[in-house]
Amino acid sequence: MIKYMTDKATALMGWVDARLPVTEAYKKHMSEYYAPKNFNFWYFFGVLSMVVLINQLLTGIWLTMFYTPTAEGAFASIEYIMRDVEMGWIIRYMHAVGASAFFLVVYLHMFRGLLYGSYKAPRELVWIFGMLIYLALMAEGFMGYVLPWGNMSYWGAQVIISLFGAIPYIGEDLTVWIRGDYLLSGASLNRFFALHVVAIPIVLLALVVLHILALHEVGSNNPDGVEIKKKKNAQGIPLDGIPFHPYYSVKDTVGTIVFLIGFAAVIFFFPTGGGYLIEAPNFEPADPLKTPAHIAPVWYYGAFYAMLRAVPHKLSGVIVMFGAIAILFLLPWLDRNPVKSIRYKGMLTKVATMVFAAVFVMLTWLGTQPATALYTFLAQVGTFYYFAFFISLLFLHKFETAKPVPERVTG
Ligand code: HEM
Repeated sequence: MIKYMTDKATALMGWVDARLPVTEAYKKHMSEYYAPKNFNFWYFFGVLSMVVLINQLLTGIWLTMFYTPTAEGAFASIEYIMRDVEMGWIIRYMHAVGASAFFLVVYLHMFRGLLYGSYKAPRELVWIFGMLIYLALMAEGFMGYVLPWGNMSYWGAQVIISLFGAIPYIGEDLTVWIRGDYLLSGASLNRFFALHVVAIPIVLLALVVLHILALHEVGSNNPDGVEIKKKKNAQGIPLDGIPFHPYYSVKDTVGTIVFLIGFAAVIFFFPTGGGYLIEAPNFEPADPLKTPAHIAPVWYYGAFYAMLRAVPHKLSGVIVMFGAIAILFLLPWLDRNPVKSIRYKGMLTKVATMVFAAVFVMLTWLGTQPATALYTFLAQVGTFYYFAFFISLLFLHKFETAKPVPERVTG
């Protein structure tokens, strides 16, 4: 009986493969995708980004079933989901906390790229697709945050959209075009809903597919920054490579379980994150006559918001903020260090990279705080360092001695 069933299954698979190369794709991307054998902790965050993406898509679909995208009904529909819809509260918290989790894992994923020079040739396109994902994610998070039509949704959107007003000549018209109205209104909410639930998710999914295809074309980097394809055995298999499935599919499952335990703990015990994940004014309905005492973005935009506020002139601030994102796109060409991995770089680059991480965390925090004189000063120092760090990657290696890079991966 078992033999009969496996024969039938093999025949069916043969029939499908003759029409759509499923087995070939499975081999190329899973069972015969040779990944370096020395992946460490930092390599969990790609798969975790996928896990969170799937979480956002599924919980988002269910939220859409009960959410009302109108200025009159949006806030009440969220309350309805939280109180009356069966399991609605957990779906809503999975989505809201999921947004923060998404940025957390993506930031760690990007930082891994910086640590191991994963954006360098031949992986420039992997990085560029990653940056486009990051941009789409920022737009997605912003529009999603507006949807509950709470008071911080309203005023946050007001501040961000008004930034476009700083652009000379076209600024004012542009803000009206974005809002679809002279003031932020139901018309704006409606279009943000369409973009948040349909347009941007499609773009995100397409970009993630391109990101992975580009990666699998050139192969993964690793903590040693050694190209494993340079040393192959007689069968053409990299000596330091192991098949993604089962080795990394199993390892990633362990990482995913650990992540989900932490994620569940936040959802059950700390869903608002002390005001950092869902801010207090968003438990009040949007009120155009009541500006919250302190308008602050959610933590994941904090660093860029701090850079915006660090510059007193509005248009210059907007340029600095967008420049801070744009410079990340250029990273593969800014970093001229011949050594890829931080393990073998000289002391100067090591220290500069660690200080950069600390400065980015500081800016993130400053962006969520009121702009006092001291905090503005710190944000100015941080903004200067942020740009100086990327520029210094052009030449820093000339002033330090690197360690010899091994031929094969270590450990
Ligand atoms: C939805 C968001 C994203 C998903 C699902 C995703 C997924 C992945 C996966 C599964 C990998 C292979 C496993 C790993 O290396 O961790 C990977 C590698 C990579 N990703 Fe992403 N990624 C995302 C966003 C980003 C962003 C925003 C960037 C940077 C701007 C980025 C840059 C990279 C780079 C450079 C690699 C190659 C790393 C290496 O081989 O060392 N990714 N990504």
